Amino acid sequence: MNLQLSVGPPRGDGYHDLVTVFHAVSLFDEVTVRPADRASVRVTGEGAASVPAGRANLAARAARALAAVALTRRSKSAVQIEIRKRIPVAAGLAGGSADAAATLVACNELWRTGLTQAQLREVAATVGSDVPFALLGGTAIGQGRGEQLTAALVAGTYHWVLAFSAGALSTPDVFAACDRLRAARAARAEGELARASGPGQRTRTARQEAEAPQPALSMELMAALRSGDPAAVGPLLSNDLQPAAVSLRPELRRTLAAGRELGALGAIVSGSGPTCAFLAADADRAKELAVSLTSAGAGRGVVRVRGPAGGAAVMAAEPG
Ligand code: C5P
Repeated sequence: MNLQLSVGPPRGDGYHDLVTVFHAVSLFDEVTVRPADRASVRVTGEGAASVPAGRANLAARAARALAAVALTRRSKSAVQIEIRKRIPVAAGLAGGSADAAATLVACNELWRTGLTQAQLREVAATVGSDVPFALLGGTAIGQGRGEQLTAALVAGTYHWVLAFSAGALSTPDVFAACDRLRAARAARAEGELARASGPGQRTRTARQEAEAPQPALSMELMAALRSGDPAAVGPLLSNDLQPAAVSLRPELRRTLAAGRELGALGAIVSGSGPTCAFLAADADRAKELAVSLTSAGAGRGVVRVRGPAGGAAVMAAEPG
């Protein structure tokens, strides 16, 4: 998830420049990769039916991207990928990116490519903006389109409650809604200024600022994360995509309000949504909050997770 997600203006290449604080939490999918005669992807578990199978699957794309860079004999590169999902699909939790990162780690091991972590992260960036972070894990600052990473210094463990929402949100749709909301706000600001002072240079500057704010890292958030105090971190959580996600899913407003009323230190839409994340003071409070949110009927399911968690890692290698 993202503790801060500041979105800049749209770039020419279909992406947005951003500054984000990525935070990996303890909700994992399990990915198994085996050599095979033909490439295939099998998905089971949470929301499996809505995960693209075959070549379009992000994990399959990750395997092909690695093979293209690291294998000289492409004939040996076919793998069977099995994904057991626990991370909900298209939920703003970068589950697809996590599966792609796991596949990179597994294939890297299987093919003994000898790539360094940095080289692997470069391959990851070609697969998706969040895939390099899914490899790295922990808490990290992301820049560019999210693929340029700097590890962040964070003290302590944070206890979160995630409220899953029925249905999915498409990341490009949420970014597009963010642009639309900003353009509308900028047009309103321009109208107000024009009425006050007549059109001119000041009006254009106001419009540019409202439509395309330059993202910047929150130093207050970084200091709070170093302090390890969730009460300091909670109010500093921010997500520029939240108004867009809420505009597409108005019920999220109620979910966020319910969490705050039930004592969450911070309440935020995760990534492009629709999952909502609530920060609790400690493990016991997280348990209480999870129970209360469930009783309040917030979302379609509630889980407790901790952060920071590790990135994609090999759990076991079968001999052979
Ligand atoms: O990089 P990835 O394929 O995960 O991005 C999915 C989509 O999310 C992009 O096609 C784009 O619409 C949007 N996006 C963006 N700016 C970013 C990252 C993603 O607009 N920094």
